[in-house]
Amino acid sequence: HQTEAPDHFDAIVAADQKVEPRDWMPEAYRKTLIRQIAQHAHSEIIGMQPEGNWISRAPTLKRKAILLAKVQDEAGHGLYLYAAAETLGVDREELVEMLVDGRQKYSSIFNYPTLTWADIGAIGWLVDGAAIVNQVPLCRCSYGPYARAMIRICKEESFHQRQGYEILHTLSHGTPEQKAMAQDAVDRWWYPSLAMFGPPDGDSTHSERSMAWKIKRFSNDELRQRFVDMCVQQAGVLGLRLPDPDLRWNEERRAHDYTQPDYDELMRVIKGEGPCNRQRMAHRRRAHEDGAWVREAARAYAEKQHA
Ligand code: ACO
Repeated sequence: HQTEAPDHFDAIVAADQKVEPRDWMPEAYRKTLIRQIAQHAHSEIIGMQPEGNWISRAPTLKRKAILLAKVQDEAGHGLYLYAAAETLGVDREELVEMLVDGRQKYSSIFNYPTLTWADIGAIGWLVDGAAIVNQVPLCRCSYGPYARAMIRICKEESFHQRQGYEILHTLSHGTPEQKAMAQDAVDRWWYPSLAMFGPPDGDSTHSERSMAWKIKRFSNDELRQRFVDMCVQQAGVLGLRLPDPDLRWNEERRAHDYTQPDYDELMRVIKGEGPCNRQRMAHRRRAHEDGAWVREAARAYAEKQHA
């Protein structure tokens, strides 16, 4: 009964149950999920580039093996997420086309360069740390396939975060040059990591509706605050400084006051003007073109099997 479908959808969301692909859902709910899940999937795939940059230069064989495994995990995350998006009636091929021709986006954070080995530590600690803070609530997202994909992804992200933390801990307790390198990486990655959570709540176009639909469980600013509070303590253990002179505990709010990231910079990076946007997209397009023969062969094989 189509007329009853909206009531059914509202009831599922109100009861904190999962909306499944077979259920009726508002067209705008489907659209926003496709947008968010695709953007998330693209981020995982593009995110392989800044880290892949250090695979051949990791300082030991063990570090190299760990980094290889981590970058492969990111590919896996991208694939779970494309599969989750496909349950909404889009094709993975369509989504990849939209990424390579610039109609869909990916996270701002992957448009910054990885200049030293310590950046691999800072990405694990801060970028994957921010990803976890943002993604753990997505395990309770109202759309079943997305929520279930996030459970596996978050488990692996926790491992990624710890490996980054351990790299920084080792450098921070090494020679003065190594400690300085770790500090420099944290200085460069801190504000872009804060910006990952998106624009401030007042400028967030989708938050209100996504929260009503229980896709998002917390606002951008709530999660950013949670991340800052978490990092302060961990920076202390690392023996590294967070590059914000105004960062301090506010007893009244029971949270840290901190300097906001530069949101104009975030908007510029989202629009394609970050330090590495062109390089990331050119690499992704080239990889896609290089893979054309594989897709063609797979199609020919499938047709042959079908016949
Ligand atoms: N990078 C790129 N675009 C962003 C970013 C960012 N850091 N933050 C916000 N935006 C975009 C939004 O996509 C939206 O643009 P659009 O309308 O053209 O799609 C616009 O800025 C306004 O932002 P919001 O209204 O706040 O958007 P939304 O409600 O989708 O919230 C958020 C943004 C928090 C990133 C959300 O989409 C989300 O939680 N996504 C899933 C997590 C994710 O994608 N993580 C990827 C990086 S983590 C990793 O891969 C290691």
